[in-house]
Amino acid sequence: MSTAPQGTTGGKTGPARETFSSRKLFIISAIGSAVGLGNIWRFPYVAYENGGGAFLIPYLAALLSAGIPLLFLDYAVGHKFRGSAPLAYRRLNRGAEVLGWWQVLVCCVIAIYYAVIIGWAAMYTWFSVTKAWGDDAEAFFFGEYLQAPEEPALGFDFVPGVVYPLLAVWILTIVIMVAGVRKGISRANVIFMPMLLVMFLVLVATSLTLPGAMDGLNAFFTPDWEALAHPGVWAAAYGHIFFSLSVAFGIMITYSSYLKRKTDLTGSGMVVAFSNSGFEILAGIGVFAAIGFMAFTAGSTVEDTAVAGIGLAFIAFPTLVSQAPLGSLIGVLFFGSLVFAGLTSLISILEVIVAAVQDKLGWARVKASLAVSVPVALISLVLLPTTTGLFVLDISDAFVNQFGILAGALVAVVVLAWVLRKLPMLSGHLNRISSVKMRTTWMVLVAGVVPVVLAYILVNEIIAKVSEPYAGYPAWMLNTFGWGMSIGLVVLAVLLTLIPWGSGSKDKHDPEYEAIRAAEDKEEAR
Ligand code: ALA
Repeated sequence: MSTAPQGTTGGKTGPARETFSSRKLFIISAIGSAVGLGNIWRFPYVAYENGGGAFLIPYLAALLSAGIPLLFLDYAVGHKFRGSAPLAYRRLNRGAEVLGWWQVLVCCVIAIYYAVIIGWAAMYTWFSVTKAWGDDAEAFFFGEYLQAPEEPALGFDFVPGVVYPLLAVWILTIVIMVAGVRKGISRANVIFMPMLLVMFLVLVATSLTLPGAMDGLNAFFTPDWEALAHPGVWAAAYGHIFFSLSVAFGIMITYSSYLKRKTDLTGSGMVVAFSNSGFEILAGIGVFAAIGFMAFTAGSTVEDTAVAGIGLAFIAFPTLVSQAPLGSLIGVLFFGSLVFAGLTSLISILEVIVAAVQDKLGWARVKASLAVSVPVALISLVLLPTTTGLFVLDISDAFVNQFGILAGALVAVVVLAWVLRKLPMLSGHLNRISSVKMRTTWMVLVAGVVPVVLAYILVNEIIAKVSEPYAGYPAWMLNTFGWGMSIGLVVLAVLLTLIPWGSGSKDKHDPEYEAIRAAEDKEEAR
């Protein structure tokens, strides 16, 4: 049975669009989406590697010049055209539907591997209690836990320690998705977000009391001003901000389509963006205080102790858990935070796909949620908890971020700003209902700064990845899970666009939207 309210004119119109019951719930859910794995394990290391304290300058520049403007763009498209990404873009211009499907497919890829990292974190929450890794956290993670071969190779042997938590993650996520926007997504965020905040604050406070913590913070915050002269540092900041804020891959279009008609969009966006950044910087403080302690214990420097990406979370932290006073508590708080932060982001990623299927086929919530989540979960469960899984995850994460999210963002801004010239209309919509007004500055940023910066980053990324195989993986692996996947998304997006809209779809019958459109058009004409 569907949990969604039914349309006023009967079955033909399909279920009525769900809404967040309040702006507060939307803001909590949007923060829940933004604050995710990217904040906790990616940001601290990216910041450290790219100039430490000085990175905060490109980071802020990226946030203000690209992150927030594109967040507002997503809000404007989703709220004005009240649809999932494909429907909202189609209502803006028929030819733009393909942009929406591209974003939906990017979400499919991210969901497949994102859930796996949440599963690892769930397992490591438990391992923290028993300190299961013994003396060598690195050997335990890659060897005993993931059972990854030394050299990247194809292998489909299942790894039970990854399958079971992943299955649990998917079952919980599917239950939330089936329950819908109010009973599922809103509720999950209202429960998980306060827990995440409390756990993380306790974690950071505990980390700060460890000996050596201040050395860690010094390393994190001491600016390496020379780093600012490297274009790669700026590229890292812009590359990070999209994933972190959940912009340009359909999430904010979908969430804002569930907002009531008169909602302060830009004011809400500011709250979301600064909460996300606040959390990110807090994560940096907590993680580097912990690394400072590890350096202190090992008698080495922070520089020698910090490790990258996945390693930071699943190698450095377990080492810390073994050494620190209250180690198990720190481990449970850290990995538990990763689980909650990850879950609230995963549901937002899946919602992009569910909403798109609902809109295109006119299906009820339960049917669409199951039709989307079960196959995505199955792919995730078959492909990733294997001995090849780690490599597939690493490659698809690197490629989908660059050639899915960033490339998709570039094409979307060029199409909206330059081909269709929709920015004045979209800024009119934002200004009519929002507290923070913007017009020229926003348009200059979206139409000018963002495309130039993104084009620069992408060209450099393509050159880098073509001239040197990413992370030394074999060509066939990169061609399949990297290049092949990235190109495949575009081809599939075109094919999905070509599928006709169902007779019960929102494109054919949506009296609710038509009434809102008529009322807003009248208001705008005044
Ligand atoms: N914004 C989410 C994250 O940072 C996807 O992980």
